[in-house]
Amino acid sequence: MTRDADPLRYLAPVTPRLSGLRPVRGEGVHLFDGEGTRWTDFTSGIGVVNTGHAHPRVVAAVRAQAERLLFAQIGVATSPLAGELAERLVALLPGGLDRVFFTNSGAEATEAAVKLSRHATGRPNVVVFQGSFHGRTHLTMAMTTSKTVYRHRYPNLAGGIVVAPFPHAFRWGMTEEAAVDFALAELDVLLKGQTAPDETAAFVIEPVLGEGGYLPAPRRFLEGLRARADATGALLVIDEVQTGFGRTGRMWCCEHHGVRPDVLIMAKGLGSGLPISAVAAREETMARWEPGTHGGTYGGGSTLPLAAALATIDVMQGERLPANAAARGAQLIAGLRELQARDPGIGDVRGLGLMVGVEFVDRDGRPDAARAKAAQRACLGERLLLLTCGTFENVIRWIPPLVVSDERIDDALAVFARALAATAPAGAAGGGEGD
Ligand SMILES: Cc1ncc(COP(=O)(O)O)c(C=O)c1O
Repeated sequence: MTRDADPLRYLAPVTPRLSGLRPVRGEGVHLFDGEGTRWTDFTSGIGVVNTGHAHPRVVAAVRAQAERLLFAQIGVATSPLAGELAERLVALLPGGLDRVFFTNSGAEATEAAVKLSRHATGRPNVVVFQGSFHGRTHLTMAMTTSKTVYRHRYPNLAGGIVVAPFPHAFRWGMTEEAAVDFALAELDVLLKGQTAPDETAAFVIEPVLGEGGYLPAPRRFLEGLRARADATGALLVIDEVQTGFGRTGRMWCCEHHGVRPDVLIMAKGLGSGLPISAVAAREETMARWEPGTHGGTYGGGSTLPLAAALATIDVMQGERLPANAAARGAQLIAGLRELQARDPGIGDVRGLGLMVGVEFVDRDGRPDAARAKAAQRACLGERLLLLTCGTFENVIRWIPPLVVSDERIDDALAVFARALAATAPAGAAGGGEGD
């Protein structure tokens, strides 16, 4: 093999790449390239490595399992690990959810939740919310409205999906109360005009809009959805693919609000990097999903993700990671709000736990994607990995691993302060001293 050619050129160009980093090792919040150069990963691989990169307990569990058994197809000969993991999850899940279906990715779990909802209710339609991201398979693409790029030139989107407003108080220039009232009123219009209650199988909601802009759903909005689900017999499906596993300062985001899901979807943080996702529901709901009408080769059968997930739960509980996420998230938001006070380009700082968004606006209050990208690039220049999000791509999102220390949060805030100073429009205050 010639050494001058980069083998990465064989990868499909459909995946854009944020950085030139080629990591060969990870430890906690850090990634290292082949030369041993250290980067700080405040993306957690898009919200996956909540326990940090290569947590020793997760690695040990995977290594031990690899020496025993790699695969036992769940429908042929079920690994005891599948039952063990389901039992551990049931003990953690809210709202009496006591049955678990395993699959591999967030999108597959979302698809499964929709198929379950349709079977359990005998109804065809699903309500999603403007700005949501639920995945990129054919069905979940139709449920995703965070950006047009995810649906661009893929004709014949799956049917039966209706989009209702998500209360975006900041964008709408409203108080949260007014935004919730408006969004719920529009949902009632939709239930009159587009999908009759007896044709509505589910409301599917991210409790913090993720890819759509890191926007927490207000409690009263979630309560409003719960009330409408109860009144119509539709299921309330909470997509905790990104918010689950301690990310928002509780094991599950919906616990902040005491809103009971009928179906909960989890993925990302569950396997600490090994692909595994799950759908949880109550026994009576799952009992309506006729045997054989859904399934897959790998879900619940690939034992390394199962072992990784069991170790992940041990780490979450043993190291009290949700509590650390709450404390470090409060520190991060306070630091970002100090920067906001000195920089008129930061329109909003918001979030829950370690799921925090910084929204950039121009002098007229319009979305400023160019500044968000420039600040992100400046951070990359100091080897701090941060992602953007939002329909207008003008939000920088902060999702460090939940093992992050207060020192590393302070370091990242100092890098961000320098990035703000370096990217402030001419004549604007902003940026501050740097550190
Ligand atoms: C809330 C939410 N749902 C679903 C998905 C899809 O997950 P996956 O990329 O594993 O298919 C994502 C991915 O970012 C997500 O954030």
